[in-house]
Order: sequence, then structure tokens, then C-alpha cells
Amino acid sequence: MNPKGNTILITGGGTGIGRALAEAFHSLGNQVIITGRRKEMLEKTVAANPGMTAYALDIMDGEEIKRFSEKLLKAHPSLNGVIHNAGIMRTEWVKEAKVTDAEEIVITNLLGPIRLTASLLPHFQAANSAFVMTVSSGLAFLPGAVTPTYCATKAAIHSYTQSLRYQLRDTSVQVIELIPPYVQTELTGAAHAVDPNAMPLKDFISETMSIITSTPDVQEVCVERVKPLRFSASGPNYEALFQKFNDSRSGAAAGH
Ligand SMILES: NC(=O)c1ccc[n+]([C@@H]2O[C@H](COP(=O)([O-])OP(=O)(O)OC[C@H]3O[C@@H](n4cnc5c(N)ncnc54)[C@H](OP(=O)(O)O)[C@@H]3O)[C@@H](O)[C@H]2O)c1
Repeated sequence: MNPKGNTILITGGGTGIGRALAEAFHSLGNQVIITGRRKEMLEKTVAANPGMTAYALDIMDGEEIKRFSEKLLKAHPSLNGVIHNAGIMRTEWVKEAKVTDAEEIVITNLLGPIRLTASLLPHFQAANSAFVMTVSSGLAFLPGAVTPTYCATKAAIHSYTQSLRYQLRDTSVQVIELIPPYVQTELTGAAHAVDPNAMPLKDFISETMSIITSTPDVQEVCVERVKPLRFSASGPNYEALFQKFNDSRSGAAAGH
């Protein structure tokens, strides 16, 4: 993708990785539009970045996605990129046999991007150059057992992204997957944002933007830190790696 001169929608752009990407693309001269549910987070981000635009959107609501997309394309006919960043991650104990969290995670992380892509694709295909960027996770490739549905949605997003890329191979729409490692944000709460084992957000965004700006035809954006997870399934010791990875994470080892 050309890192400049786009009109980009970033879901979940009021916090964390979404906000940092929004600011990075904004500072490169792109028109950036952010969405999310918490208006105060969107307002704060726009106030700190004059020229950015924000709309409230709950990505769980399929009808709202359709209405929003129509309104968005009327207001911003130059829109040529979307970053499906909004997501939720929750711990689930499968022995409790509850599915409410699982359903919300699937609707937010998987159905949300699928529905929004469907609403925007006809417009993107008519553009000279457009892109769809999904946001998966290193956990798509080596699941953390304490967050089973989250990891499953990220593996599904990886799979969906490949199919989307294949089907759109003869169009002007580039399909990119951003695969973050463990990054300091409030995805699972305040402690996540200060966990020394997580990659500092600034470092993650700087390496990510350097890959995007230096590799126009990039398909998967992998910072160095995520490569061991991204390529874990291709190694001969996957089963042992899975066991060790999960035994080392306190919740999984606690035997829930
Ligand atoms: N941080 C990590 O370690 C890590 C690692 C791998 C992948 N990722 C992925 O990176 C993406 C961004 O996460 P983050 O780490 O930056 O955490 P974050 O700060 O919690 O960002 C998640 C964003 O998604 C939005 N969101 C959640 N549910 C929504 C809904 N129903 N409708 C609209 N927006 C919704 C949130 O805004 P509202 O709550 O205001 O709606 C929030 O802005 C996620 O897809 C996550 O899975 C993160």
C-alpha cells in the first residue's frame, strides 16, 4: 500500500494499537477516521490529532454496520482503506461450560470484520487503489489455552484474510494482515499495559510503520518479536512448543 494519501477507517481507533496506528497514519498525511463505542476515547484522540474524524460504532451490531457504512461512504467518498482493529480478549474456563463470552468474542473479532468488509468492498473495488487490513495475533498460530475463543477467532481471521486476498487478487484491493505480538495496551485490563513481558506500544508501532512504508506489497506485517509465534506451526516440535508455552502461562498451568 502507499502509506500516504489514503482515507482510512480504523475500528477501535480510540485506544491502544488502533489509536497509535491512527496517529501514525495521520502524521503521514492520510485522512483518518476512527470508530469505537466509547465516545470519550474517540473525542480525546480527535482532540489530540486535529483533522482526524470519529464516529461511534458498535461492531457487534450487523444492522448498525450497514447503516454506518452508507453514511460513511457518503461523507467520505475518498475512503480507500479499512483497518479491522477492534477486538476483545477474555479468559474463558471451558469446564464452566458458559458461552456468553465466546459468542461476544466471535461476533466482535470475526463477524464484525467480515460484515464491515462486505459493506465496504463494492466501494473499494471501484477505487484506483484500496486496502483491507485485518488484525490477527501471534496467538492465531500458537493458541494460549486460557483464551480459547479469542485465539480461535484470530486463527479464523488469518484464514479469512488469505481467502479474501486470493479472491481479490485481480482487483485493486490489497489485503494485508497485521500480526501483533503481546503488546502493552489495556486489551485485558490495566496490568496488560504495563506488563514488562509485552512489547512497548511505541516500539511495536514504529517497527510496524517501518515495514508498511518500506514494503508496499506486504501481505503479513510481522515485527521481529512475533516471528517465533507466527512460524511456530511450521516447526517439527509444535506439540512440545504448545505444551511449554501454555504451561508457562500461570492461568493455564493452574489447572482450571
Ligand atoms: N495488545 C496485544 O497484546 C495484542 C496482541 C495481538 C493482537 N491484538 C489485537 O489488536 C487489536 C487492538 O487491541 P489493543 O491491544 O489495542 O486493545 P484495546 O486498546 O482494548 O483496543 C481494542 C479496541 O476495540 C474496540 N472495541 C472493542 N469492542 C468493540 C465493539 N463491540 N465495537 C466497536 N469497537 C470495539 C475498543 O473500543 P471501545 O471499547 O470503546 O468500543 C478498543 O478501542 C485487537 O484486535 C487485538 O485482538 C492485540
